[in-house]
Amino acid sequence: MNQKYTIALLPGDGIGPEVIKEAVKVLRSLEKILKIELILNEVPVGGAAYEAEGHPLPANTLNVAQSADAVLLGAVGGPKWESLERDLRPERGLLGIRSELALFSNLRPAILYPQLASASSLKTEIVSGLDLMIVRELVGGIYFGKPRGIEIRDGERFGINSATYYESEIARIGHSAFQIAQKRGKRVCSVDKANVLEVSELWREVMEEVSSSYPDVTLSHMYVDNAAMQLVRDPKQFDVMVTSNLFGDVLSDCAAMLTGSIGMLPSASLDKNSFGMYEPIHGSAPDIAGKDIANPLATILSVSMMLRYSLNQAELADKINLAVSEVLDKGYRTKDISAAGDKVVGTEEMGDLIVMALES
Ligand code: IPM
Ligand code: MG
Repeated sequence: MNQKYTIALLPGDGIGPEVIKEAVKVLRSLEKILKIELILNEVPVGGAAYEAEGHPLPANTLNVAQSADAVLLGAVGGPKWESLERDLRPERGLLGIRSELALFSNLRPAILYPQLASASSLKTEIVSGLDLMIVRELVGGIYFGKPRGIEIRDGERFGINSATYYESEIARIGHSAFQIAQKRGKRVCSVDKANVLEVSELWREVMEEVSSSYPDVTLSHMYVDNAAMQLVRDPKQFDVMVTSNLFGDVLSDCAAMLTGSIGMLPSASLDKNSFGMYEPIHGSAPDIAGKDIANPLATILSVSMMLRYSLNQAELADKINLAVSEVLDKGYRTKDISAAGDKVVGTEEMGDLIVMALES
């Protein structure tokens, strides 16, 4: 019997559908070469779901995601929906699915492909060989803390959000980070703002406690402002960085840019059983949607992460990574990662090239 997997496809908005289409080509090609059977269930999320069903996360979308073996998401959001009431905005769909599926561990690797060193805005020697992993807590912290809202106080508008963490929430993301570090360079840098915030003080304490279960991994701590600076000063000092939801949001964009293109970076969001949702870390990029210029590689590499972390098919994951490397070696680039002399290709052609490399 062929191994059978059900994958929920949530293309979303902007360039989401275009890049997911290329990832589907890759999935279908894997099915051909490797005799696995894939059931792909496509459902709307974000602005597309609002248009179709009046809500960014319809119940059916959540059900389909919940009952799949893994979820592949494109991107959500766009100017069209920015003025909607907050609960109906596309981003709510994304935050909702993360939270409903308890995907607390967000892995955001920043890997520099040697072929793309010149695309980085930093000097080649600072970024060459870069391979760092940001582990971002994804379902807690100030993104979800209560109280929150905008109200009238003392006769004027008053905005409030709360940065909150239970120790159990800190411990579980800590364990994630340490276990990943065990399979890499065995160093965890925990990023916080413990010099100012009580919630960070607790974060630091709990990270220390968790670290005692991992004597083979070295733990260090860094304040987030310094971490932002160190990321652009000497990013190769880091192996695994673990941090809260908001700090991770900011630092992972910064780390992404070190590699030259946010169009290259995949991510995984996992629950405690390694069930996961996989998505490119770039957004919906509405300005370039529908023009066949978006880079599908981040989504294709998200498929690779999905095979590795949720479907236990590390060999297939390696195959995809190799195909991406081969296509880059041949000088093919989408516009976002191109330099003079490169062969610039569109979204669809890049997908076809990866499929050809896989099948050759
Ligand atoms: C990300 C994005 C999201 C976040 C937005 C779209 C809600 O920036 O995945 O990093 O802030 O988490
Ligand atoms: Mg972000």
